[in-house]
Amino acid sequence: MMRKLAPMERAAIWSITPRLAEARAEEEAFALGGIIRLWGHRLGEQYSNVLNVPCGLGRHDDALRKQEFNVIGVDLDSDFIRMAQNAHPQWSYHYRVGDMRKLPFGNEVCPLFDVVLNLFTSIGYNGKAGDMETFSEFHRVLRKDGFLAIETHNREPFKERLRAPSMEEPDNGIVRIVQHEVRGSVWTLHNTLFRRAAGGDLTRIGKKDIDVTLYSPGELTSMLKRSGFEVLAVYGGYNMKQVSVADTNMLVVARRK
Ligand SMILES: C[S@@+](CC[C@H](N)C(=O)[O-])C[C@H]1O[C@@H](n2cnc3c(N)ncnc32)[C@H](O)[C@@H]1O
Repeated sequence: MMRKLAPMERAAIWSITPRLAEARAEEEAFALGGIIRLWGHRLGEQYSNVLNVPCGLGRHDDALRKQEFNVIGVDLDSDFIRMAQNAHPQWSYHYRVGDMRKLPFGNEVCPLFDVVLNLFTSIGYNGKAGDMETFSEFHRVLRKDGFLAIETHNREPFKERLRAPSMEEPDNGIVRIVQHEVRGSVWTLHNTLFRRAAGGDLTRIGKKDIDVTLYSPGELTSMLKRSGFEVLAVYGGYNMKQVSVADTNMLVVARRK
């Protein structure tokens, strides 16, 4: 039987080890800061309190804080929260373990946030019903006219480009091989992890499948509308250009009604 995956091995499964993901984080966070300020200006709103959920290891948070945003991070994985706290010791009380379908902020303190960020394909893990629960939680914790940004895959172009199988090697001796499978709207990542010994030999250390429900821009827009949001724009990523059939990713920005 395979052993339970260690925290850094689980981070490899989610593609959020520092080497796999952190390189892009600063750029993304600065682009997001610009998008939030631009929409704040257009809507006549001041946005400063940000919920980053799920935050993973908190890789976007330093760059958001440099732009004067007050950031709270929430993630289901308590080891990731501990790693985020260790990486940001002066902000350790700004991290909480929690499920995005039932956020750890009671009604007595809500609405608490001006902005909710959901980045790096962080919806779809619990099907459409789970995402509707998540959007209703985003609505509950955001103040009226608060700002929501969701960055995720754009289903059809992403499915067309999905290559078989991919291999990544984070810088901690872990090798991850992913076989991709798509059935309808569900993308399954069949992950197998190996550890590379000094001589180069690979030992298998674990396996984990992740199912992700994918959406088209129209489908995500109508789900958000049903959850009490006005969709302001759907970009083809952080570049602020309207999404097109060539974009494998999309960034949906919305206002809480
Ligand atoms: C692809 S990672 C993205 C993390 C972060 N947004 C980033 O860009 O680095 C997805 C994260 O979702 C977290 N997660 C999965 N299900 C969750 C849930 N129901 N509630 C909160 N976090 C969840 C995982 O622990 C993981 O850290």
